[in-house]
Amino acid sequence: MTVTTTTLNGTSDQYLTLRGEEPKIKKIPSYESAKLVDPFNYVGETFGDGPGEDYPWADFLPHNPVRTHSEPPLELQNITDRGHFADPGHSRLRAWVKSSGGTIKDLGICVGTVIHGVKMEEMGPEERDDLALLIAQRGVVFFRKQHDLTIDQQRALGAYFGPLHKHPTYATPRRGDLDDVVVVYSDENSRPDLYAFSRAELFHSDVTYELQPPGATILRLLVTPEVGNDTLWSSGYNVYSSLSRPYQRYLESLSAIHTGYNQAASRSAEGHRIPLRAPIETVHPVVRVHPVTGLKSVFVNPGFVTRIVGVPKAESDATLAFLKDSFAQQTDATVRWRWEAGDVACWDNRIVNHSATFDAYPSLRHGLRVTPHAEKPLSVEEYEAAYGKPAKDWIKERLISLGIEGPAADDGKTKKGGFRD
Ligand SMILES: [Fe+2]
Repeated sequence: MTVTTTTLNGTSDQYLTLRGEEPKIKKIPSYESAKLVDPFNYVGETFGDGPGEDYPWADFLPHNPVRTHSEPPLELQNITDRGHFADPGHSRLRAWVKSSGGTIKDLGICVGTVIHGVKMEEMGPEERDDLALLIAQRGVVFFRKQHDLTIDQQRALGAYFGPLHKHPTYATPRRGDLDDVVVVYSDENSRPDLYAFSRAELFHSDVTYELQPPGATILRLLVTPEVGNDTLWSSGYNVYSSLSRPYQRYLESLSAIHTGYNQAASRSAEGHRIPLRAPIETVHPVVRVHPVTGLKSVFVNPGFVTRIVGVPKAESDATLAFLKDSFAQQTDATVRWRWEAGDVACWDNRIVNHSATFDAYPSLRHGLRVTPHAEKPLSVEEYEAAYGKPAKDWIKERLISLGIEGPAADDGKTKKGGFRD
């Protein structure tokens, strides 16, 4: 069933409209009485009654269990990326889409592809392998109108890509048997604190403090406003490609600390003091190589990275700030998705950072995410030793594929150009 929300008169009443039924009118709190939420550290609590018992997705509303103890820390798992089994031209996936009467279309040169006209639950293993490769190449692949995809089918697809991550601090669905599902939820009772963050700070990759942070991640929105709450994805391949060779080499030599403490602290502030797992900090390479594409990607984000190891603080802060701004500013390698209810986004957390927007308060937004673990991040040195071939630079590979040599080194004579629409 599709649910849409429409906000009338800005902040007065909210209509929750089930398709084909009379709208239910629900009073929303005043602007001041809504809980002020820092979306930078939000962990999925609900503040208020929720959308009511006739809400069709009540089983998937966020639930925050009170625990007596945490589970032990995660250990390294053997993970083989399904992208290794893909056809290089995604021929099985493309044939399946075509035979379904659907289409595959790129949304930008570097990042984003959308698939229309298929039912994801009907995808076979060969198509899934090709999809794993496509996500690794394109950063994010969208599927419109996946109204019939169940959460268990979504979990099965995620588990095909890798063992599903259980979030240490986030809410899980009320249904109770879905510890490996993250609930994305906001309503009229949680008002984003627009003073709490810069927009650049919101670009992140999920749970990068884990030993094996996620790869191909699958988010399906059940309810979304008609306008607003878009999500953006920005390519780490392109951030790397945008840098000078000396700076690339410098970053390739570095590693950074990713911390889970801030996210855990924000949860304890809401009275759920004991997380599923105690917070950890993990050191990962600043430039990682995707094991399937062999492409180098900048792998830092302001949400979880606290500092670069072995460099003075001022240098670390400046480098991280520059990379944060690079993700936020590269309009040429960012895709913005305007959600409709039932849409699915599959993104590779290894090679893109993403950011929600928080412009649609007080509209209801509700989604479910499954988050497969990927390999322990590989530095350039580790990748080249393990795979016996050089890691690659995205822009060089693109130009080679077009039969173009380059790019040429800067000769210092570049002239300022004019602006063009
Ligand atoms: Fe996220």
